[in-house]
Amino acid sequence: MRLFFALWPPHEAARALADWARATAPESGGRATAEEKIHLTLAFLGEAKPEKAIAGARRVRGQAHELPVEKAVYWKQNSIIWAGPKDTPPEMLKLAENLQRQLYLQEFILERRPFAAHVTLVRKAREPRQLPELPRVEWPVNEFLLVRSISGRYEPLERFPIA
Ligand code: 2AM
Repeated sequence: MRLFFALWPPHEAARALADWARATAPESGGRATAEEKIHLTLAFLGEAKPEKAIAGARRVRGQAHELPVEKAVYWKQNSIIWAGPKDTPPEMLKLAENLQRQLYLQEFILERRPFAAHVTLVRKAREPRQLPELPRVEWPVNEFLLVRSISGRYEPLERFPIA
């Protein structure tokens, strides 16, 4: 099964970001991310068994924080429009690095690309002329999830609280 670790937004934040994505997609010819699929990936495992991933994640220590959704960006290299913080909060960076370290200790080989905090909101997009202002959203980060991707759906397998 395809697995990844992610931060999931509260319902209200997901709804507001999904509305923004739907309003923005036509301008770029892209496809809006469905409300229930909006997330921020901390680590992508690909095909893997969950047991070791869960063991690694249980050892992760982190600090609760807020995810500020402040800017919307078009990435030409993978044709997506994403939203995220202007600067990655240090607690989030530490969380992602700590998780990647624990996964490495569980013998997962992860891509060596640096963590980039982004929430994909439109896929298969052409460069938009302009992006509308983002909604104000509250996204407290006090847990992370192990998620499996199956037949185009995302299923949470396990939740890991952070203090
Ligand atoms: P994306 O939103 O930038 O496409 C589920 O597919 C999640 O894992 C998505 O958030 C996706 O990022 C991310 N993902 C998919 N393939 C990946 C890869 N090879 N490396 C890192 N993240 C990946």
